[in-house]
Amino acid sequence: MTGRDPQTARGAADERVLGRVRIQTEPLPQPAAPAPARNGGVPQIAREVVFDIRDMAVYYGDNQALGWTAFKIYRHLVTAVIGPSGCGKSTFIRSLNRMNDAIRGFRLEGQVLYRGHDVYGAEVNRVEVRRRIGMVFQKPNPFPKSIYDNVAWAPRNLGMREDLDMRVERALTQAALWDEVKDRLTDSALSLSGGQQQRLCIARAIAVEPDVLLLDEPASALDPVATASIEDLMHTLKNRFTIVIVTHNMQQAARVADQVAFFTLEPGADRVGTLVEYADTQTIFRNPTDTRTRDYVTGRFG
Ligand SMILES: Nc1ncnc2c1ncn2[C@@H]1O[C@H](COP(=O)(O)OP(=O)(O)OP(=O)(O)O)[C@@H](O)[C@H]1O
Ligand SMILES: [Mg+2]
Repeated sequence: MTGRDPQTARGAADERVLGRVRIQTEPLPQPAAPAPARNGGVPQIAREVVFDIRDMAVYYGDNQALGWTAFKIYRHLVTAVIGPSGCGKSTFIRSLNRMNDAIRGFRLEGQVLYRGHDVYGAEVNRVEVRRRIGMVFQKPNPFPKSIYDNVAWAPRNLGMREDLDMRVERALTQAALWDEVKDRLTDSALSLSGGQQQRLCIARAIAVEPDVLLLDEPASALDPVATASIEDLMHTLKNRFTIVIVTHNMQQAARVADQVAFFTLEPGADRVGTLVEYADTQTIFRNPTDTRTRDYVTGRFG
């Protein structure tokens, strides 16, 4: 990523080492504070744009998975992505940090601007994109290593070795797991329960101090108690991170999200995923403008 950070003394390139690959990064600029936004006549506090998605369309080979998509994602809010199976929720969220790059035939049109930088720009360092924009998947996927080594893995690989113990403790504390594992850090991560494993994956993602957390149905494989603890966690994590969460669970979206993006599948042979409506959570659930949104959130469709 390019750009300079006027708020740090170090305007110069910040060099990191990833394994044997040397990567060159520069701190990002702090965007100017945006003008206060208004929504339905209600004054809102100034919001900082983290993602500006412009005319995005995604293809896998000849098949278009996502149609024209444009909206902004704001700092320190939880943005939920909802919609029926196959409408492109995972495709969308994975496009925000280039997780789809490895998929054969993947092609993205339009732009994904992250803090003003084109995520797909030629000069962009993909490793740095993934560090700043972390991801947690549906199924907890800890490495078959100790609890400590899971959290320390990415910092070690990125050369963030200073105060590693503190970093691990902080990440586990932020993921609301520290008290449960502090006396068994050398135990295998696979000895944890499903809910604990998912919180460990969240700790692993936040150990490198990302700016954004992308969560693709993080609680769908968990029981109601573990789900509730992940939801509680969202409320505290959003003070520190910007969160984008895919969920099939409407109650969960209503409970955790500030903003909601509803996608659907257009009928017809192409079945292209389409953004129908994007608004604050209250509007989507209580007063949506599109009947397709109303039908979906009230359970009449999907
Ligand atoms: N790796 C891939 N290669 C080819 N097509 C894919 C790939 N991944 C997804 N697709 C297609 O893109 C479309 C959107 O899929 P995606 O997984 O993004 O949907 P989703 O909304 O996340 O669905 P679900 O709710 O079932 O997880 C589907 O038609 C799917 O078949
Ligand atoms: Mg999905």
